[in-house]
Amino acid sequence: MKRRAQLLGRLEAGSARVCVIGQGYVGLSLSVGVANAGMEVVGIDVDAARVDRLRAGVVDVPGVDQAQALMALGSGRLSFATEADAVAEADVVVICVPTPVANHGPDLSAIVAAATEVATRLKPGALVVLESTTYPGTTEGTVLPLLEASGLKAGRDFALAFSPERIDPGNSKFGLANTPRIVGGIDPSSTEVAAAFYAQLVDSVHTVSNCRAAELAKLLENTFRMVNIALVNELAQLCSDQGIDTWEVIDAAATKPFGFMPFYPGPGVGGHCIPLDPAYLAWQSRRDTGRPYRLVELAMDINEAMPDYVVRRIGDALGDRGVTLRGARVFVLGVTYKPNVGDLRESAAVDVVRRLHAKGADVRFHDPFVGSLQAGDFSRSRSALTGAALARSDCVAVLTPHESYDLDWVVQRASLVFDARNALTGARRPNVVPL
Ligand SMILES: NC(=O)c1ccc[n+]([C@@H]2O[C@H](COP(=O)([O-])OP(=O)(O)OC[C@H]3O[C@@H](n4cnc5c(N)ncnc54)[C@H](O)[C@@H]3O)[C@@H](O)[C@H]2O)c1
Repeated sequence: MKRRAQLLGRLEAGSARVCVIGQGYVGLSLSVGVANAGMEVVGIDVDAARVDRLRAGVVDVPGVDQAQALMALGSGRLSFATEADAVAEADVVVICVPTPVANHGPDLSAIVAAATEVATRLKPGALVVLESTTYPGTTEGTVLPLLEASGLKAGRDFALAFSPERIDPGNSKFGLANTPRIVGGIDPSSTEVAAAFYAQLVDSVHTVSNCRAAELAKLLENTFRMVNIALVNELAQLCSDQGIDTWEVIDAAATKPFGFMPFYPGPGVGGHCIPLDPAYLAWQSRRDTGRPYRLVELAMDINEAMPDYVVRRIGDALGDRGVTLRGARVFVLGVTYKPNVGDLRESAAVDVVRRLHAKGADVRFHDPFVGSLQAGDFSRSRSALTGAALARSDCVAVLTPHESYDLDWVVQRASLVFDARNALTGARRPNVVPL
C-alpha cells in the first residue's frame, strides 16, 4: 500500500521515472509524450543503429510526430539506450515491442525477450504495462510469470496492466493526447496505478475490469475495420461487374446519420495492425475453442485476394486497349500502405507491384517516401515522376494517392489510369478505370 501511494504520488507530481522498451512507432511516440508531459524517460531498443540515430536527433521512424519529437529531445528529459539498465530505477516500465505473425500464429518472442530482461532489474513498487497488440491472456499468462521470475510477486510487489496503443499514424486530428486510453490491470490496484500514469498523457482513460478485456478490445477495433474493408472490397468487385460506381454507393449509404459507417475499397489492407491483429484473434479461436472464427478468416481471405484482383483488372484494362500485361509498361504511383505515411509494412500496393512484375509487366514506380523497392524478384529505384515517363507508360496505376500528387496532371499525360482508390473523383475521364 505504501509503495502504491508513493508511485501514485510521483505520477501525480510528474516526477515518475519511465522506461519504454522498444522505440518503434509506438514506443517512440509514447516516450515523446512522456517527456513532453514532464517526466524523465529512457527509450530502450535492441537496435543499436536506431538508438544511435535517435541520440543524434534523427527521428526517422515513420509516423512519429516530428515537432513533438524534437520538443521532447530538446527538453533533456528523453534519452536512449540499448541496454535495459535504467529499468532498475524506473517507476514505470512500458513494453512496446513488435508482435508479428509467424506461421499464421502469434510470434511473442519480442515480448518474452523484453519481459525477461525487465525481470532481471525490476524495482519493487514499479508499474509494468504491456502495450504491444496481442491476444487475450498474454499479460497474465506470458508476461506475469516471466516478471515473477524476479522473485517479486505481481499485485503485491509490482503492478501489471495492459493498455493498447490505438493511434492512427499520420492522423492529424487524433493523436496520443486526444485518443482515449483503455487500461486493464491484473487487479484493481494495478488498473488504478496504470490509469494514473496514462492520465498524465491523455485526456481520457477508460478502465476495464481485467487485462484480457483490454487485450481483446484492441483486437476487436482492428478486426472491425478489417472485416468492413473486406465487405466493401467484395462489393467493389460486384459493382465492377454490374457497372455501378462503388464509391457513389458507399457515399449515398453514408448519408444515413445512424447505423452506417463508411469504409472504402482498395488494393488490400496494409500496415502493422489491420492485416495482422485479426490473425491473432483467428488463431486464438481455433486454439482455445477448436472453432474457426469464420467471419474473420473469410474477411482476411477476401482482403488478401485483392492485390491479385487489382492485377487482373489492370490486365483487363490493358487488354481492352489491345496491350498484353506481359511486356506492358506500368507506372505505379504510391507503394506505401496508405497515403501520406512512409510505411511499407504489409503494403498491398507492394504486393501488386510484385505480382505485376511476376506477370512480365515492365513496372516502374514513384513514391515520395520510398527511394527503392524490393518485392519478390522486383528490385528497382524510384523513377522520376515526369510527364514523359507517364506518357511512355501503357498504364499508370494509382495505388496509394499521396496528397503531393497532382492527379489531374497525371490523367492529362497518361493514356490509361487505373484508379485503385477512387483518387480521381471528379476527374473521371474515358482513360480512367476505377477499381
Ligand atoms: N504501428 C502502429 O500503428 C501500431 C498501432 C497500435 C499498436 N501497435 C502495436 O504496438 C507494438 C509495436 O509496434 P511498432 O509499430 O512500434 O513496432 P516497430 O517494429 O516499429 O518497433 C518495435 C521496436 O522494438 C524493438 N525491439 C524488438 N525487440 C526488442 C526487445 N526485446 N527489447 C527492446 N526493443 C526491442 C525493435 O528494434 C523496434 O525498434 C506491436 O505490437 C504493434 O502491433 C502498432
